[in-house]
Amino acid sequence: MNDLAGKHIVLGLTGGIACYKAAELCRALVKEGATVQVVMTQAAEQFITPVTMQALSNRTVYGSQWDAREPNNMPHINLSREADAILLAPCSADFMAKLVQGRADDLLSLMCLARPMDTVPLLIAPAMNREMWAHPATRRNVAQLVSDGTTVFDVGTGDQACGETGDGRMLEPNELLDDLIAFFQPKTMLGQHVLVTAGPTYEAIDPVRGITNLSSGKMGFAIARAAREAGAQVTLVAGPVSLATPRGVHRVDVRSARDMLHAVQEKAAAATVFIATAAVADWRPAHAADQKIKKDGSGATPQLSFVENPDILAAMAQSSRGQSRALYCVGFAAESEDLLANAQAKRLRKGVPLLVGNIGPATFGQDDNALLLVDESGARELARDSKLSLARKLIADTATRMSARG
Ligand code: CTP
Repeated sequence: MNDLAGKHIVLGLTGGIACYKAAELCRALVKEGATVQVVMTQAAEQFITPVTMQALSNRTVYGSQWDAREPNNMPHINLSREADAILLAPCSADFMAKLVQGRADDLLSLMCLARPMDTVPLLIAPAMNREMWAHPATRRNVAQLVSDGTTVFDVGTGDQACGETGDGRMLEPNELLDDLIAFFQPKTMLGQHVLVTAGPTYEAIDPVRGITNLSSGKMGFAIARAAREAGAQVTLVAGPVSLATPRGVHRVDVRSARDMLHAVQEKAAAATVFIATAAVADWRPAHAADQKIKKDGSGATPQLSFVENPDILAAMAQSSRGQSRALYCVGFAAESEDLLANAQAKRLRKGVPLLVGNIGPATFGQDDNALLLVDESGARELARDSKLSLARKLIADTATRMSARG
């Protein structure tokens, strides 16, 4: 995707066993299009060599404020001035304490203190033993760093290098990459709570068989991610799909259309936006058998009859109508032909302000898509692109519509 194209990141390493993850992180940042300048403390060099980081970043690594390679001998100024962000990963407990006190007795802390605060954000990925992370001194330092404008990423939980188990390990490189990409996205949805449905539903015929469809859930998951990146609180109600939950998104797994309706009704009270991307099965077997339906040897086929499933989107649009704090509802339409006409008709039928049309067979399971945004004044096309790029555009568009609504 090259989500970090054009970004220059100063990656600072401090002393901790999580330095081994910084190598992978550096590589991931470069793969995503960033240029990376590595700065290491002496303690970090006990855990990983500058040679490794130089090879991965393709740049000379800095470690000393007395580095004579800089013509003015001021690496702490020169290195920070061109950065779009300084990311400390791992950031040790000791280094956090240094930042809090504004100490500047090595190149990395000196550079953090000397950076232009308005243009060069400081982000830290803490990494330490669970007792250190829980210690009141560290708690105080985290709070102080946040109030000083530092972005403090979460820590992971689980097995630690010391053999203990708990909170404090550094996030995995792919998690940090996602958090950094999110950091740079415009915060158009701050204060909003976005509820998204995604994926297919599964309607049981018997305990081992059912009816479903080819929806992969990718578009809905991309929308959940984009909404989170834009600063919203996000709840994702997902049908049976095997996709990873986007960072920071609350996920509720469901199976059938009725399960999905119940989950949506429960979560809708707190939501301000509802985006229905799920390919909900229109019908379900009237009776799901308690036991597996067996062949009886006669060649007779089971006689299935169907009943219609509840229309989740239409129900939410209807129940929020006339409310003082109406839920802004966005529908999707998966069509096989006549996209514009079908999407326009579906928008009116569902009673929603915005309906997003796409050609089902051309998008199910794919990583890219093309969207047609249909509202009361006409239609606008979002040209073929990755689902994540389209999701970001749709979220920005929805935010504009919501602020126009007041
Ligand atoms: N939808 C829903 N509940 C349903 C059916 C659809 O919430 N029981 C939502 C979908 O999530 C989507 C929109 O309604 O946002 C349109 O879904 P689609 O399957 O395209 O339309 P249908 O209403 O099923 O109409 P048809 O199958 O006749 O095209």
